[in-house]
Amino acid sequence: MRGWDKSAARSSALLVGEKACSLPERAKAVEDSGMLRCEKSNAGRVCQSNGLLGNNSKDGFMWAGSHEYGATDSAQTCPETTSRQNVFDDAGFFRAYLEFREADEGFNTAMEEPAISGLLPDVAGLRVIDLGCGRGKLCRRIASTAAQVIGVDCSERMLALAESESSGFEKTLQYRRCFIEEFDAPDGSIDLVVSSMALHYVENIELVFGKIARWLSPRGVFIFSVEHPIFTAGPREWMAHSDCRKAWAVADYSQEGVRVVPWLGRNVLKHHRTFATILNALLHHGFAVSRCVEPRCDEMTLAARPDAALENQRPAFLIMQCRAIGKWRVGKRTSEDAPGSGNE
Ligand SMILES: C[S@@+](CC[C@H](N)C(=O)[O-])C[C@H]1O[C@@H](n2cnc3c(N)ncnc32)[C@H](O)[C@@H]1O
Repeated sequence: MRGWDKSAARSSALLVGEKACSLPERAKAVEDSGMLRCEKSNAGRVCQSNGLLGNNSKDGFMWAGSHEYGATDSAQTCPETTSRQNVFDDAGFFRAYLEFREADEGFNTAMEEPAISGLLPDVAGLRVIDLGCGRGKLCRRIASTAAQVIGVDCSERMLALAESESSGFEKTLQYRRCFIEEFDAPDGSIDLVVSSMALHYVENIELVFGKIARWLSPRGVFIFSVEHPIFTAGPREWMAHSDCRKAWAVADYSQEGVRVVPWLGRNVLKHHRTFATILNALLHHGFAVSRCVEPRCDEMTLAARPDAALENQRPAFLIMQCRAIGKWRVGKRTSEDAPGSGNE
């Protein structure tokens, strides 16, 4: 069985030499250090035919075993499907992604990160899960005062980098290699669930919101960011506007489902949901939405980056802060309430 070797990852911090190298160089050092133990590529290959998404990867691979917090038993073998994509373990994509984030081409550092941090409660003493934690930046921020943080991610490369950057956090921070859909935790055992830019890779959001509602302690908090529905709808293009300005094109907003997005040299699967679907899924699982943010570039970013003004023309990120208050809706859910009906 493949497992996650924490000690190898921790010791690689020395090899990686955080101070000396740029992020892509550090990623390469993690690779070269032999911490990555994929015997075969688990990146999978995505194909599209007759408008239907398929997957021609037959590769399966084993995951870390079941823990109190960890993968459910049914998840021991995980071939890549639309909901079990692991594109971040493709070496070329991983390097390109780190460069993309380092250059802040997607405005995550300028917009999404401050917005999600601004919604965090006082995390002192809290038990926290970060779903799709990537290289663990948010985990470490929270782990400096929280009681316990578990970062969950399916990417071995991401977790190797996360571990290499997490020395000093051993007491409070652990990483688990697991698909979000298959991670589980005891009921009522968590005070805060965060997820930054990962849930648009997840096909079954209802399943995940239901689990989170179960894990959270009374009045627990769930904060997440995703690509904004106006952004995920497609075709992800700016178009010429009548007055020579550019306008963001939104097509097929009501047509929910998977989108094949050519990004950083790969076809990446992302899931488009309407705002109503996201909101109703939260309400259905007993969350009260306490804040909703569509961040914009601030004055400093506008002054420093010529591309920032255009970025402010449409929301790229949707960030929500919710509290678990239990099932409160009166009556049964009707077909008109169903995700994607748009009738809410
Ligand atoms: C865009 S990155 C964001 C990483 C980090 N949260 C951040 O904000 O920097 C998305 C992360 O989600 C992970 N991910 C995507 N789909 C996942 C899934 N179904 N289960 C677990 N992790 C997933 C990827 O491996 C990747 O590390």
